[in-house]
Amino acid sequence: MLSSATLNTIAEQLHTAGWCAVDDALPKLAAHRLAAHAIALPDAVLHRAGVGRAAQRQTLDTLRRDTIVWLEPNNPADAPDQLWLGAMAQLQAHLNQHLFLGLKAYEAHYARYATGAFYGRHVDAFKGQSNRFISTVYYLNADWPSDANCGGELLLYGGLEHKQHPTHIAPMMGRLVVFLSEGTAHEVLPALRTRHSIAGWFRRGSS
Ligand code: OGA
Ligand code: MN
Repeated sequence: MLSSATLNTIAEQLHTAGWCAVDDALPKLAAHRLAAHAIALPDAVLHRAGVGRAAQRQTLDTLRRDTIVWLEPNNPADAPDQLWLGAMAQLQAHLNQHLFLGLKAYEAHYARYATGAFYGRHVDAFKGQSNRFISTVYYLNADWPSDANCGGELLLYGGLEHKQHPTHIAPMMGRLVVFLSEGTAHEVLPALRTRHSIAGWFRRGSS
C-alpha cells in the first residue's frame, strides 16, 4: 500500500534528520476512504484522551482538547482500520529491515480537533519511561489550505537538529509525518475548522 519510493524516503529522512513529511503517502482512494470513515465517526464514539502514564492519567484541558478513538486490530470487519494498520505493518517491516530499529508493535487512534482545539507542546515519549519509539501522524483533511489560514498546523521542534524555530506542517489530506518519539517536541496550533488525523506509535518492546 505504501510505495517503495515512499518507504525509502521515510527511512532515509528518519535516519538523517529524525523526522519526515511525505505527501500522498497512500493512494488517493485509500486516503479518501480513511477520511470518510474518520469524519463519519459519531461524537459519542470519541472521547477525551488522558495525558500522562497509566497511574496519573488525567485530562488536561490546558494541554490538549482533541477527542480520540483507537483503531481496532482485532476487528477484521473494520476495513478502514485494517487498511491503515496494514500500511503501518509495511512501514514497520521496512524500518526494521533497513534501519534495524527492532519495532515490535503499533497502536494508533483517530483524532478529531473541533474548531478551537489544540495540543500544546509535548513529547510522545520520555527516555526510559516508555517504549514508544517512532510517532506517525496521517492527515485526513480534504481542501485544507497549505498556508496557515485554517490553523491546526503541526509545529515540529527538532528531530535530530533540536531547532529553535519549529517546522510548520499543515494537516493536508494524505500527508504523513513520521518522527522519533523520544525528544521530538511538537504541538498542534488551534484548528480553525474541524481537523481529522490518525496518530500512532511504534514500540520497541511489549507495553
Ligand atoms: C499526538 C500529536 C499531532 C497532530 O496525537 O500526540 O502530537 O498533528 N498529534 O495531530
Ligand atoms: Mn504528539
